[in-house]
Amino acid sequence: MGNSLDGKVAIVTGAGRGLGKSEAIALAKEGARLVIADLGAGKDGSGTDEGPAGQVVEEIKGFGGEAVTAFGDVGDHGAAGATIKKAVDTYGDVNIIVNNAGFCIDKMIFNMTSDEFDAVLRVHLKGHFNFISQACSYWRQKAKAGDDIYGRLISTTSEAFLYGSVGQPNYAAAKAGIVQLTLVAAQTMVKYGVTANAVAPRARTKMTDEGLTAQMFAKPEEGFDTFHPDNVAPFVTYLATPMAAKISGQVFVVWGKQATLMKSPTPGERFENDADAMWTIEGLDQKVSPYFKDKEEPLGESFIVPYF
Ligand SMILES: NC(=O)c1ccc[n+]([C@@H]2O[C@H](COP(=O)([O-])OP(=O)(O)OC[C@H]3O[C@@H](n4cnc5c(N)ncnc54)[C@H](O)[C@@H]3O)[C@@H](O)[C@H]2O)c1
Repeated sequence: MGNSLDGKVAIVTGAGRGLGKSEAIALAKEGARLVIADLGAGKDGSGTDEGPAGQVVEEIKGFGGEAVTAFGDVGDHGAAGATIKKAVDTYGDVNIIVNNAGFCIDKMIFNMTSDEFDAVLRVHLKGHFNFISQACSYWRQKAKAGDDIYGRLISTTSEAFLYGSVGQPNYAAAKAGIVQLTLVAAQTMVKYGVTANAVAPRARTKMTDEGLTAQMFAKPEEGFDTFHPDNVAPFVTYLATPMAAKISGQVFVVWGKQATLMKSPTPGERFENDADAMWTIEGLDQKVSPYFKDKEEPLGESFIVPYF
């Protein structure tokens, strides 16, 4: 137990299970008062169950922490506002938003329906927008009224956004959008002292309990359990503390004993027309094709990677 978040109020979405549960408990152990926002949805987003969020609240109360549940759907903008209101009504303020809730519906791009695309965009990207926009609006109003604010936005992206994850067109697109949304929030809110960062975790949860990923993330018979979701929670908690005040607009890949800071996209090869004129197709072929001619795969081998 620590005290780096004494007096702070945190909302963690999807905190009934998996990574969100670990993160909520870690924040509470540092003194934060928690809203456990979880619909108790099934693996594909269907159904609701108030049990998981209620159990996390009991666990937090069990070690002397404070927590309440909120059962709204993160994809609903009004429900996100109601969750923030619940935090303010219950604890007097809101300071930390960990956007984490979500589910996957994995299909190849040629098999995915429009509804399957929309559902995953809605829960991840729109879910993040809902809480980020409602929290930023709350903090801005407080600042305008002359009140002190303390704000931390922590988003959950995925390495799927980096690598064009085959089988996850909806999820990879949503996670890419979440990164940009986080960077926008970081730039917008810097004048209020609010930080916004994203983590791309790897962990053994309901979301990763099948196939190749389940094998890779399996609990070892002995030694450090690299893919336990608890391993991600300290980094998320650190980002929420005053110690991380100067960290904003960053993306970290977090798992096991490591956190990797992702670099911003940097310009690569530049192709320039020698003539003082607009490109012609032939001119582009002369300049661009030689650069790609020796590549065996159209995208290059680095793109053939597993997703998380
Ligand atoms: N597990 C990994 O390796 C991994 C890798 C990259 C990213 N992530 C991301 O981490 C986050 C947490 O995933 P997890 O692995 O802990 O999954 P999980 O399935 O264990 O937990 C997700 C939680 O989100 C809740 N939820 C789903 N839809 C909701 C909705 N509409 N409203 C409110 N709550 C809802 C579920 O009830 C569930 O408790 C997700 O954003 C996921 O994309 C996980």
